[in-house]
Amino acid sequence: MSQNSVGNPYGHFDDQNREYVVTRPDTPLPWLNYLGQDEFFGLCTNTAGGYTFWKDAKLRRLTRYRYNNVPYDLGGRYLYVNDGGSVWNPGWKPVKAKTDAYECRHGLGYSVISSTKDGLSVSQTMFVPPGENLELWKVTVKNSSSKAKSVKVFSYQEFCFFEALNDMTNYQRTWSIGEVEVEGGAIYHKTEYRERRNHYTLFGCTGPVTGFDTSRDAFVGIHEGLHEAKVPFAGKASNSKAFGWNPIGSHEVTLNLKPGEETTYTYILAYVDHDLVRFRGEKFTAPFVINKAVGMDVMKKYSAPGAVDAAFDRLKAYWDQNLGNFQVASPDPHANRMANIWNQYQCMATFNMSRSASMYETGIGRGMGFRDSNQDLLGFVHMIPGRARERILDIAATQLSDGTCYHQYQPLTKKGNADVGGDFYDDHLWLVLSTVSYIKESGDRSILDAPCGFADKTYASNKDKETLLHHLETSIAYTMTKRGPHGLPLIGHADWNDCLNLNCFSTEPNESFQTAGDVKDSKAESVMIAGLFLYAARQMTELYKALGRSADAARIDAHRKTMLGILESVAWDGEWYTRAYDAEGKVIGSKTNEEGKIFIESQGWAVLGGAGADGGPFGGRARQALESVHKHLYTKNGVVLQQPAYSTYNKAYGEVTSYPPGVKENAGIFSHNNTWIHLGWCLLGEGDRALEYYHSICPSTKEAQIDTYRSEPYVYAQMTAGKDAPCFGEAKNSWLTGTAAWTFVVVSQGIFGIQPDFAGLRVDPCIPKGWKGFEVTRKFRGATYHITVTNPNGVSKGVKSVTVDGKAVAGNILPVLASGDHAVAVVLG
Ligand code: BGC
Repeated sequence: MSQNSVGNPYGHFDDQNREYVVTRPDTPLPWLNYLGQDEFFGLCTNTAGGYTFWKDAKLRRLTRYRYNNVPYDLGGRYLYVNDGGSVWNPGWKPVKAKTDAYECRHGLGYSVISSTKDGLSVSQTMFVPPGENLELWKVTVKNSSSKAKSVKVFSYQEFCFFEALNDMTNYQRTWSIGEVEVEGGAIYHKTEYRERRNHYTLFGCTGPVTGFDTSRDAFVGIHEGLHEAKVPFAGKASNSKAFGWNPIGSHEVTLNLKPGEETTYTYILAYVDHDLVRFRGEKFTAPFVINKAVGMDVMKKYSAPGAVDAAFDRLKAYWDQNLGNFQVASPDPHANRMANIWNQYQCMATFNMSRSASMYETGIGRGMGFRDSNQDLLGFVHMIPGRARERILDIAATQLSDGTCYHQYQPLTKKGNADVGGDFYDDHLWLVLSTVSYIKESGDRSILDAPCGFADKTYASNKDKETLLHHLETSIAYTMTKRGPHGLPLIGHADWNDCLNLNCFSTEPNESFQTAGDVKDSKAESVMIAGLFLYAARQMTELYKALGRSADAARIDAHRKTMLGILESVAWDGEWYTRAYDAEGKVIGSKTNEEGKIFIESQGWAVLGGAGADGGPFGGRARQALESVHKHLYTKNGVVLQQPAYSTYNKAYGEVTSYPPGVKENAGIFSHNNTWIHLGWCLLGEGDRALEYYHSICPSTKEAQIDTYRSEPYVYAQMTAGKDAPCFGEAKNSWLTGTAAWTFVVVSQGIFGIQPDFAGLRVDPCIPKGWKGFEVTRKFRGATYHITVTNPNGVSKGVKSVTVDGKAVAGNILPVLASGDHAVAVVLG
């Protein structure tokens, strides 16, 4: 166990190896990891459960996941070991035989599951090599007993018919179309390849294959479960050939191991697409025989000695490089561990998945969210700015010419999702935040001139398309135009809080809260959007200043001032900012309300937007708003979304009132919006508060109460049950949450204060007074800054002096430097 890890009954952090080590398979919930970083992805739990897809969890699902399953986590990358009649799985499931040792190491882009039983150890390392469309499982089997063993290992993967929704709903068709081919150690799942698909799934094995199965009914049985699958218990493959029904891939591998002998081989799960690899020859080499050239190349490549280890080394190097862009050494072990490893890692997952595929997001529902993906980018952009650039342009292209946006889009097609549509009146503003953060990180202003075009228009050529800058202008103009009776921005279907549906009035249980109700001529307004607008407008102003366009800067700043004036005059409730006005113009989030008197979002965004700032005409309000959050909303597990929780359904407010008190948007602790308060404390220079609040939702601190918390202690969850819930402190919906990106902003830019800016790297930490200092290594636009911050006078904020490579620098912006290493000394005081 690493020195920093508290540990818990189910596992501990290994910071040195950047791994979370699960030491008991029966975790309080399945503890998930992701494999893959580019286009090929897998979900992998601590019992080897999960599925695989290429690019799009809905449209290119390669292996199957069964919904509403019991137990939750069933089906995956299973190996059944038959050791002299005793059948077990290294990942415990599905047989759940007791092993003598079990360990799952979730690392960055890989998981290693190892178990030992009766002197036989099996270890399975699962990962996706960078840049490749395949997943590898390196398997090592060792006989550590004193007797020779003849062991059989049966692999098991259930194939999905690629379109995951159809796969689970259209049996009348799907059970008649399944097709496979088997050649050597390779099983090819080729359903629908004869018609409109140009792709197949390969499941290969480089070990000594002595049999195979491709029919689930033959391998598992009709009336059996995976825990009692027929073939592994019989100890003999049936060489079944699937014709329709449910194709699977299973290899029988026979290993004869002397005492002490160890052997290693590999399984390969690959996606082969003719449209991608315009390979040699036709789709078919003979009637009904698919062209396997690429599949065979892959098999050959990973049969070569050392190839799998070399691929694994590439994955390690990939992560060294990504994380190397920001590393901190501070007095706080939780912040170090999360900021250096897990928080950044989670940012990659949210960047790749948005809200599509996790244990809680089905991969058949939401694709990429407009607001979600823009925010996810804030925590990712420092790792691979080039990918962030591409994403921004993809997202912008789903905006409509009037300024509204498709709320979601499919990753494969990059087309907006018409079922959900648009009219969420915050969406477009997040595009300003993502674009500005990209430019600040990379210095690449050319993105503003990139053609994007609007989703509702057709263009003769790329050069006719409106530029990204035009999109940003459209976004700003849209909010200024779409305002309600108080002058605040209209809310539409919802703002960030998807459940505050002020125009929905739904009494029909079968409709969606978001799309029910007409937003045309609606009057409901959002204070949160007003705050977000202030922030976005300030960013646009700074951007124009950096571009030397002072007239445009002044124009946008005038909008900001207008909005600020309105917000201060109509949204201050006396001790905090109100939340919204409903469709009848009645206030929400006020002391005059019986329930929902104070909400978190508008406090966060008003403060971040500069409302109530010290020294301004309404100075003191910001501080008072956050103190009210502390008084009414803060708990040891984070800040609840509002108080008092709604006790009855109110159709005028929508989904927020549909949840039981204490969960989700009805007074749950929504980690995402907590981070805006954290940044607010940083803005006000309250370093002790900032760290206390940071800890309150930090998963690594939850090891100490894991049986209550239940979710993975290495990644943020969307929600923790609030104080009104009977399960106060229980986390739900881990992994795919905007918390990842925003918390990285909090810790790297707020607390440690390393803020990319147009002209360089601003250093403006906000730390607990008791800290003597900390060190950060930050790679920025090609140079490496080794920043040492000291705090001789015990302050929280304020930079007294800065030197770069021994020379004093005025102000606190580090200039853009030549590549190579640079020593920066910052003294607070
Ligand atoms: C959605 C976000 C939304 C949040 C709050 C999440 O599930 O992905 O877009 O802002 O809930 O309602």
